[in-house]
Amino acid sequence: MVTAYDSTFACIVDEAGVDLILVGDSVGTVMQGHKTTLSVSMEHMEYHVAMVASVKPLALVVGDLPFGSYQASHTQAIDNSVRLIKAGAEIVKLEGGVHLASTIAAITHVDIPVMAHIGLTPQSYHRMGGNKIQGRSSSGAGSRNQILEDALAVQEAGAHAVVIEGVPSDVAQEVTESLSIPTIGIGAGVHCDGQVLVMHDLLGLSARSFTFAKAYANLRTTSIEAVRDYVSEVHSGAWPDSDHSFSK
Ligand code: KIV
Repeated sequence: MVTAYDSTFACIVDEAGVDLILVGDSVGTVMQGHKTTLSVSMEHMEYHVAMVASVKPLALVVGDLPFGSYQASHTQAIDNSVRLIKAGAEIVKLEGGVHLASTIAAITHVDIPVMAHIGLTPQSYHRMGGNKIQGRSSSGAGSRNQILEDALAVQEAGAHAVVIEGVPSDVAQEVTESLSIPTIGIGAGVHCDGQVLVMHDLLGLSARSFTFAKAYANLRTTSIEAVRDYVSEVHSGAWPDSDHSFSK
């Protein structure tokens, strides 16, 4: 699974053969330039889901429910899941475990598949005190035991798959071995059933880099060099040349 937020990159990742395209609320950080994902709205998500779905990818389109769009009530969660499905998502993702289990059940009861997201959940930024690796302690919030309980609860509630983010790989391994639904890891080691990366990290588009994310290309440098060449050719008069100009 790889994230995409528009039709151009949806085509690229689909042609490359990903199984799932996640229209993630990471749009708030990598596209909108915010520090967290917390300000992303339903309108933003509908807009980006529709752009990705417009190319009719072979890959399954996962639509992320943003912060504040599903926590208030089951009715709110169902209404907003329906909005993402109408925009073109085929499965919705939400962050949470035990406390969101009844919400997951409510959404799946109206025939909308749900992907849960446990471990480091970026929408819990303030509770976690930042995007911190979870599952290192043995008890309490964010502990290894809590993550295992969360995993079992979301499976029991009817989730079709679960993203595990930012946990030691042995924790992800234990979760994966305990569940019958697929686990998809990010910063969670090699033992998950699948993996997800944010497209900007995978392509080396952003200035930032993370231990858990590998850049398979350096498109930031390539892009800067290309634009620099263009600027230089415009300044020198080499662009546009006769091959790219019209005659009578
Ligand atoms: O929003 C997102 O891109 C995500 C992934 C990091 C899993 O939730």
